[in-house]
Amino acid sequence: MPKLVVNVDHIATIRQARLSKEPDPVHAAFLAEIAGASGIIVHLREDRRHIQDRDLRLLKETIKTKLHLEMAATKEMQEIALEVKPYMVCLVPEKRQELTTEGGLDVASNLNSIKEFLKPIKEAGIKTSLFIDADEKQIEAAKEVETEYIEIHTGHYADAQDDITRRKELKKILRGIKLAQDFNIKVNLGHGLNYENIWAFSKVPGICEYSIGHSIVARAALVGMEKAVRDMVEIINTFVD
Ligand code: PXP
Repeated sequence: MPKLVVNVDHIATIRQARLSKEPDPVHAAFLAEIAGASGIIVHLREDRRHIQDRDLRLLKETIKTKLHLEMAATKEMQEIALEVKPYMVCLVPEKRQELTTEGGLDVASNLNSIKEFLKPIKEAGIKTSLFIDADEKQIEAAKEVETEYIEIHTGHYADAQDDITRRKELKKILRGIKLAQDFNIKVNLGHGLNYENIWAFSKVPGICEYSIGHSIVARAALVGMEKAVRDMVEIINTFVD
């Protein structure tokens, strides 16, 4: 069964807007788990704009499911990952000025450095994933660096402004999923997915996880975290395995 992994970054975004103590992403993670989330994701950014080091450590201690850490491939983040030991590390590109992650990681141009970067993480027993576009070259590169998982970037599909572009982006993702599966790479999907656009994947077999943050936190602001997560879990539970 495909699983929902909930990204709680934007609970921290609300807290950091006032540099206060609430709302706490640790509390949000607790409620997300009660509502059926199979894991919790945070992106510890270099600029610490939302998730703080304290959040990561407390989540590791308190959550009952699996902690996924999204991070840039920097020495600082590698050290943090090796100390905290999340269930999975997903490498993402990071730019200071961006509002959110804008595209996939360029694995193809950085084969050796990414392979080297992943080595100690794998040796520590942490699963690895690479956030990449549904691009043949990048998926082949993911195979080269021997990552167990990739997360295919669904943002271009989610952001498409018209049906033709949306269908084109969806086709690319579907081709990417198939190619990764042919290479025996496990596939997660994420970025920009919401309660409407996720239905496009309902009949696509073999997706392991959906990584969803903004749309769930947006709904949670109005109806509560438990209900927002439960609504998404109910949708994903109707999807093919
Ligand atoms: N996957 C990755 C790699 C991301 O960077 C993000 C955003 O932090 C997400 C998934 C979740 O995207 P969204 O918040 O749009 O659901």
